[in-house]
Amino acid sequence: MLNRPEKLRVAVLVSGGGTNLQAILDARGTVIQHAEVVLVVSSQPGAYALERAKKANIPALAISKKELGSQAAFEAALTQALEDAQVELIVLAGFLTILSTDFTRRFAGKIINIHPALIPSFCGKGFYGLRVHEAALERGVKVTGATVHYVNEIPDGGEIILQKAVSVLPDDTPQTLQRRVMEQAEWILLPQAIEQIAESSQAAETNIK
Ligand code: GRF
Repeated sequence: MLNRPEKLRVAVLVSGGGTNLQAILDARGTVIQHAEVVLVVSSQPGAYALERAKKANIPALAISKKELGSQAAFEAALTQALEDAQVELIVLAGFLTILSTDFTRRFAGKIINIHPALIPSFCGKGFYGLRVHEAALERGVKVTGATVHYVNEIPDGGEIILQKAVSVLPDDTPQTLQRRVMEQAEWILLPQAIEQIAESSQAAETNIK
């Protein structure tokens, strides 16, 4: 008898527009076969990503460190929401709130992030959003891209899962480069990484009796 475990339960953590969340939602049933998005958490109450979750009928909430008043209260509320939804994989998709060492250790091996550069280039503390692409253009690299990696206590320091290269064009601005990296790398890699992890965790659980 082949025991087919349920789909991997995924939470997506967001802070902004949610284009990476949208790429994940759009990949359900095609690239993503062995995982389901069961929760979206935004660190910003007004994030458009929450609208995207609502349109997709995915349970979503905002947990604001500013409103809760401390990192500890923020992480306690986040942990509760993740445990209530029985989340097995946490996906940081444009999520801009720092997570403590305690938090990343509690969920070690269960948190992944999409970084808009080829780690170890243009990563680490302070490298997020447009700043990453400004640095790539300042350095004059001809190729950049995106990286999906596990999250640990070192900013962008966890094990690399997938990477995809994107050419830098002579007339690129930080904005045009960011858009191309999102379209040609981030939105492709994140669904692939989720499916890769879901498949391997299902293979590990599936047993033949
Ligand atoms: C973008 O800078 C993207 O490169 C990074 O997070 C930012 C917003 O992403 N991963 P999203 O549109 O909110 O997914």
